[in-house]
Amino acid sequence: MTKPIGVFDSGVGGLTVVKELIRELPFEDIVYFGDTARVPYGIKSKETVIRFSIENTLFLLKHKVKLICVACNTSSSVALPAIKSHFKVPIIGVITPGVREAVYATRNRRIGVIGTKGTIKSRAYENEIKHFNPEIEVVALACPLFVPFVEEGWLSGKVVMDVAKTYLKPLKDAHVDTVILGCTHYPLLKPVIKKVLGRGVTLIDSAKQVAIEVKKILSVESELNGHRRNRGRHKFYVSDNPEWFNGLARRFLGGPLVNVKKVK
Ligand code: DGL
Repeated sequence: MTKPIGVFDSGVGGLTVVKELIRELPFEDIVYFGDTARVPYGIKSKETVIRFSIENTLFLLKHKVKLICVACNTSSSVALPAIKSHFKVPIIGVITPGVREAVYATRNRRIGVIGTKGTIKSRAYENEIKHFNPEIEVVALACPLFVPFVEEGWLSGKVVMDVAKTYLKPLKDAHVDTVILGCTHYPLLKPVIKKVLGRGVTLIDSAKQVAIEVKKILSVESELNGHRRNRGRHKFYVSDNPEWFNGLARRFLGGPLVNVKKVK
């Protein structure tokens, strides 16, 4: 029997990563955990996010996962070193794959990063960019209203546009040519962000890069289900309100889910 890939997020947003994993690795089984009882993580303290992330990892390990993907940018920013030091299974966050792509994409060496308050406060993206190239200038901004907008389905219109213009002004003023969408929800606002920043700015969607990274690691570890005939099975667990999760899943994943279970 083949082992599944484990993915966790603070809630529903991690489905943007699942969508890319399914596209890149159609034969892999996936077990997803969304911590809907304790979302959002973006405004919580570092200690709390680390504790939640360890608990989420333990839950996925019960499902005998072969690799864990931390889809939540906030968890990846503040908890990844802690969870990596506790567990033997390969654990991939979303920061490094996105940064690698951004550093490759920038021409003028000015990169913008947007994310939750927790992600921006941690400076995880900034530090990782500087690690790749200390000469790159980084402008990092929290855009906390973007998450509720996406969850409410406000993906376009005057209100979202005005808020995006206000939030993103410092990125325009700094003339960044590349922006990392450092939050699970932001890929859904790509058209608005693109409109505000203009065509010349490259938007980096970490989800895509993470899926490529997961494939690379599984292939190196000879754990890839490349030649299976059946497509992978996907199971979804949440800590609260599976109906709410399923309602939003259509937006994030492009279809309803059949297999959502509530767990303690
Ligand atoms: N999943 C979170 C992230 O990517 C956004 C939602 C939250 O604040 O929990 O940072």
